[in-house]
Amino acid sequence: MSKDDVALQALFNYLREDTEACNREIVARMESPVPLIPQLGAHLVAAGGKRLRPLLTLASAYLCGYHPSPQRRRHVGLAACVEFIHTATLLHDDVVDESVLRRGAASANAVFGNKASVLVGDFLFARSFQLMTEDGSLPVMAVLSQAAATIAEGEVLQMSMQNDLATSEETYLKVIHGKTAALFAAACRVGAIIADSPSEDEKAVEDFGTHLGIAFQLVDDALDYVADEKILGKTVGDDLREGKITLPLLVAYRQAEEKDRQFWERVVNEGKWQESDLAEALRLIQKTHAVEETMRRAQSFAEKAVAALDVFPESEIKSLLSDTALYAARRAH
Ligand code: IPE
Ligand code: IPE
Ligand code: MG
Ligand code: MG
Repeated sequence: MSKDDVALQALFNYLREDTEACNREIVARMESPVPLIPQLGAHLVAAGGKRLRPLLTLASAYLCGYHPSPQRRRHVGLAACVEFIHTATLLHDDVVDESVLRRGAASANAVFGNKASVLVGDFLFARSFQLMTEDGSLPVMAVLSQAAATIAEGEVLQMSMQNDLATSEETYLKVIHGKTAALFAAACRVGAIIADSPSEDEKAVEDFGTHLGIAFQLVDDALDYVADEKILGKTVGDDLREGKITLPLLVAYRQAEEKDRQFWERVVNEGKWQESDLAEALRLIQKTHAVEETMRRAQSFAEKAVAALDVFPESEIKSLLSDTALYAARRAH
């Protein structure tokens, strides 16, 4: 375990009781009389997952002064709800991205097929809305339903700019804000809402989540080129294979010499791709320090996330959250 994984583990340990309750809730609410639903769900849950988003809901709630009690368990249901939204988007995302590996195991679409993944993804989305209505707070529903819509917009925008190296960095940032940071921000806001926080505290945790989410996705996009596949638990090189426009690619293209530009244009814009091109792509990524540049940008977003917490007095949970933001910028999986 790296030093930065320790940060996530420390947050997990601090919130252990709630996280375990949240995990039990996830398994329980995956239930359905239609056997394929819990079967596919169990496959994903057994494969693990960092549970980062529900951890953020729980941690934000405590940072904002939430007090649980045997009668007051809404933090658990809402943390599970956030993870249901995340899991639903992963099921759909792996179909769209044709990914065969997820959480170190064969992806659900690889095992059960695309149709099952899309439909069970729909079920998980629907279940997340049930969890919201059971909680009963309209402000929570407004935040989470907006996030669900924004994720879908991010994924659609990403699809429409595929295979287009003329995409601006601004558009790329819009995509990652939508597909990833919006749910991080919403997860944090829900914590503040259930703690009855003043609006400036809610805004502070929202900003924390947004910046953390952007850092998290920047690193994901760097790892897609250079990770150790066994540690990442996903296939390296998938983004290039599908012509996905991410920051490492934009940096490498921008810095490329003319003949290297032609390589990128053939592989990305024209989609004329063969497996042996991956090694050349990696060489060019290294030559232009595109991964290092992406990681630097992630670090700077992580620092912005930490700064957003300035409005809160020092506390253990605040420092665990700050460490989690820095972890996100350095993680290896
Ligand atoms: C994967 O998210 C999707 C991205 C936004 C990059 P995670 O890396 O949090 O996935 P799990 O839940 O830990 O598997
Ligand atoms: C994140 O983007 C997807 C979602 C937010 C659903 P990616 O497509 O890069 O995520 P991975 O790499 O498949 O986990
Ligand atoms: Mg994907
Ligand atoms: Mg990725």
